[in-house]
Amino acid sequence: MKHEPSRLEIYLTRLAFLFYGKSVYKTFADRLPLNGGENVLDFGCGMGTVAYYVAGKLPRGNLTCLDISRRWLNACRKTLRSYGNVIFLHSESLPQANESFDVIYCHFVLHDLSESELEIAIPALAKALKPCGLFVFREPLNSMGKINVIKRLTGQNNLILKDSRITDIPVMGNALESIYTKQ
Ligand SMILES: C[S@@+](CC[C@H](N)C(=O)[O-])C[C@H]1O[C@@H](n2cnc3c(N)ncnc32)[C@H](O)[C@@H]1O
Repeated sequence: MKHEPSRLEIYLTRLAFLFYGKSVYKTFADRLPLNGGENVLDFGCGMGTVAYYVAGKLPRGNLTCLDISRRWLNACRKTLRSYGNVIFLHSESLPQANESFDVIYCHFVLHDLSESELEIAIPALAKALKPCGLFVFREPLNSMGKINVIKRLTGQNNLILKDSRITDIPVMGNALESIYTKQ
């Protein structure tokens, strides 16, 4: 569903980032299996909460921040203004990406998409991954219906489950973190 945030929503998210940046977003960034030279996609980057920590882990690589909302993308540009290895893309460019990324991650994005949006997004993300590339997500565990749709679509798009765990995230509660490899 397309949603442009209000100024207040952006402001409150910045405030939450200030208080919970390390305990919520950095913990996810730290779990991404990165060596520093990868081409990485943040799908649904929002204001760049996770991207802020990932960009610094890619001294020889690149991070693409993608969102459906131009206001969130602009907020993300602000958050990441000190990094030279980041590009910003609107989501309509995703279908053109073909075997471009070593790692694609989604942080609290997929549960917000309807089943029909997931039917478009997951095949496009699988296509955008290089062979043997990694697809990583963290989604709230109370969205089990959505998680089952995601599991079906990953299976149908040659994404093989490599690792999965449940974590208790401050303020946000239990979440499922999964890593898939593209076959
Ligand atoms: C709950 S926010 C999470 C933002 C960020 N990943 C975080 O954890 O702070 C969900 C984000 O996904 C974006 N989004 C929703 N549907 C999308 C789609 N189809 N393609 C790209 N981004 C999308 C929204 O605009 C929003 O920025």
